Amino acid sequence: MRRPRTTEVSTVKRPVSHDQQGKFAGLAVIVMAAGLGKRMRSKQAKVLHPVAGQAMVLYSVELGLHVAGDRVAVVVGHQADLVREVIKRATAGKVSGSPVAIVEQREQLGTGHAVLQSRPVFAVGKRGAPCRYLILNGDTPLLQEKTVRELLRVHEAERAAVTVLSAVLADASGYGRIVRMSSAERGVSRIVEDRDANAEEQAIHEVNVGTYVVDGEFLFSALEKLDPSNAQGEYYLTEIVHLAEHSGRRVAAVVLNNPDEGLGINTRRQLADAEQVVRQQIRNRWLDAGVTMIDPTSVWIDATVTIGKDTVLYPNVTLEGTTVIGEDCVLRSCTRLTDCTVGNGVEILDHCVFADSCIEDDARMGPFVHLRPGVVVRKRAKVGNFVEMKKTDLGEGSKANHLSYLGDTTIGKGVNIGAGTITCNYDGVQKYQTVIGDGVFLGSDTQLIAPVTVGAGAIVAAGTTVTEDVPADALVIGRVPQVNRAGWAARRRALQTGSDRETLNVKRETTVARLTDKRPMASKARSAKKRSRS
Ligand code: UD1
Ligand code: MG
Repeated sequence: MRRPRTTEVSTVKRPVSHDQQGKFAGLAVIVMAAGLGKRMRSKQAKVLHPVAGQAMVLYSVELGLHVAGDRVAVVVGHQADLVREVIKRATAGKVSGSPVAIVEQREQLGTGHAVLQSRPVFAVGKRGAPCRYLILNGDTPLLQEKTVRELLRVHEAERAAVTVLSAVLADASGYGRIVRMSSAERGVSRIVEDRDANAEEQAIHEVNVGTYVVDGEFLFSALEKLDPSNAQGEYYLTEIVHLAEHSGRRVAAVVLNNPDEGLGINTRRQLADAEQVVRQQIRNRWLDAGVTMIDPTSVWIDATVTIGKDTVLYPNVTLEGTTVIGEDCVLRSCTRLTDCTVGNGVEILDHCVFADSCIEDDARMGPFVHLRPGVVVRKRAKVGNFVEMKKTDLGEGSKANHLSYLGDTTIGKGVNIGAGTITCNYDGVQKYQTVIGDGVFLGSDTQLIAPVTVGAGAIVAAGTTVTEDVPADALVIGRVPQVNRAGWAARRRALQTGSDRETLNVKRETTVARLTDKRPMASKARSAKKRSRS
């Protein structure tokens, strides 16, 4: 495939006017995010579909904020309230709120019409109108900041009215094609949309990525001249290229070295392709930052996750949302953490599922631990082997190692939670709190009927159902007293072998047992039935 010459960039690099934080002076960014995205066949607006756990529109918004500071406008339309909410939540600063202006395109009449809606945002304010606009599609999450910076540099160097980003693809179908001039310079003449292209144009492999830098004075005057007489009856933003060229203004272009970056997501297949690329980029970023992955391709890390140095991730670990992992941690296979904070030196064994919880330094977790939201596991604590916790604070050095449910519970330091301990926190209507003081020893199979408090240093004997508060340092036993009947088992066995004398004895015994039996009627009936069978 023939590759068009890359941009005719002048070799003398003019200084690019950006400040120390890398923000370009006089630059504003417009992100188009109003479309439904019919080709996704989804109930959800396309730009809200996540890529590596983050709504795809946020990739364009973040990029805009990096290069233009707070002069970013997003055009919303389909599911406008949801899109607005997602953007506000992701960009809200602690003091000043979101630095992003949201404008609504009530009817989706095309990308040119979408950009026109942002005009009022930039027409006001002390700073005056922007000198140039960076316009981004909301469906190109692979676009890299350094590429956009290059586009801006070329735009300045070329003194262009419009600078477009292009990519050369083996399969260009669906994309707008870049039509070059036949002159030796092969400058850009126009962009023709796939559905409007003739056979010759469809054979072009150079496509429009949907990223443009446009001169401040030129943009809105050109948008007013757009004409929707095309295959889709839309106001195409791409037509400004032709308008610029036609009026003798310069149109520059930058061709992507890595065409993957230009992937525009219109279909679920493209969404899946983008997901793979972004996931690999994220893994590479953390590998480069000093994280070990035993089998990188099986590890899934969302874009919003942070991982400390010398942490080791085993195969099939999934880290989602706002999860932060400290240094020197080990996460064994098939573990999933969502919105969790993990300190340093934490070991998480296989098959754990944690959500919205915090694990402090040097804690030991797993295997098979389920943390539901609101759990804090303090330093050096241990949780393992089929333990479920919810809204529970497990104190420093405390242990809950086997088969427990701990909900709505505050547990002090150095506490032993015996195997099979259950906090009975729900009466079918309300949830109640359990409080367990420092140094408490809970024997195995303890049930704590909340609300209840066990004072510091108390010992709860195995098998106890704690229904009332326990004073500090007390022993509490709540078991049914044990009865041993000497020889009873032997006599029962003899009955099964059919000895008459023994039969009589056992019958007498069982009659006495029945008369003193305090069990409920149903249970007695079951026993009687068994007896009659034997
Ligand atoms: C667009 C370009 C095409 C380019 C491709 C790159 C136009 C006319 N075509 O086509 O040349 O090759 O991107 O991926 O621009 N949007 C609105 N309002 C609208 C219509 C769209 O805000 O009325 C938004 C969408 O939400 C989306 C972006 O604009 O984020 C692009 O729209 P889309 O429908 O995906 O355009 P493409 O057909 O991909
Ligand atoms: Mg698109």
